[in-house]
Amino acid sequence: MAGRDGRSIGVISAKGGVGKTAVALNLALSLMRDFKKRVLAIDAHTISPNMSLYLGIIDVIPPGLLYALRDPETVRESVYIHSSTGLHLLSGSLTSVREVDLTNLEKVVSTIRGEYDFIIIDTAPSLGDSLRHILKACDEVLLVVNPWLPIVVTNLKAIKIADEMKTPLKVVLNKVGRSREEMSVREVEDSLGHPVAVTIPVDLEVYRGVEERKPVILSNPRSPGSAAIRKLARMLAGEV
Ligand SMILES: Nc1ncnc2c1ncn2[C@@H]1O[C@H](COP(=O)(O)OP(=O)(O)OP(=O)(O)O)[C@@H](O)[C@H]1O
Ligand SMILES: [Mg+2]
Repeated sequence: MAGRDGRSIGVISAKGGVGKTAVALNLALSLMRDFKKRVLAIDAHTISPNMSLYLGIIDVIPPGLLYALRDPETVRESVYIHSSTGLHLLSGSLTSVREVDLTNLEKVVSTIRGEYDFIIIDTAPSLGDSLRHILKACDEVLLVVNPWLPIVVTNLKAIKIADEMKTPLKVVLNKVGRSREEMSVREVEDSLGHPVAVTIPVDLEVYRGVEERKPVILSNPRSPGSAAIRKLARMLAGEV
């Protein structure tokens, strides 16, 4: 179904473990389920591709992204359709231990974007070449941070690189409400020099969704974490 103009949205952070994959996967599913969008998810965290793991895909599925990066013209054949959710996925390799060159990611995205409304790209924590390739391939990025000083401060560099590359950026503040000592939304905004687009609370159901391989937006759509991710999806869907 050509003729769409898939908006490519990268989910990035300079730090690991902040919730990039949880946000990317549940956002992709919410755009599909709640807002009836055609969505492709790309797992571009080539060292530790967790999207398929979080979906409970236990079979060895073809590492679609690696094939597509080698020859972007083959990208359509490399898309895996997850049977229980219907999500279209370009997965990473579960066995590869080498970092993969993402130079061709932009080409992969431009080859297939006409068939989707959104292309959601999960990424590795990076401030290096892989981040630059991601930024090139994306119309926009979601910067995921937690309200803790080292994470916020390190991500100032991600904002600087996105600004240099003129890639629009929204800040997603995840895992809010864990401790009284954490930074307030205002402090995060002042430190980053960017408004926070959405706050996602720390929510045991989000965590459980990952552990049980049933993404929270499907298993517990009314939990506070799901509601926040749906709000983000609504914001993005409304901008199309
Ligand atoms: N809002 C939340 N509430 C509770 N737990 C969360 C929340 N968001 C993420 N988590 C948990 O935090 C852990 C890390 O999340 P996730 O794997 O999405 O991070 P990541 O940024 O993708 O990590 P990596 O950089 O290693 O790819 C997981 O156990 C996940 O369940
Ligand atoms: Mg991840």
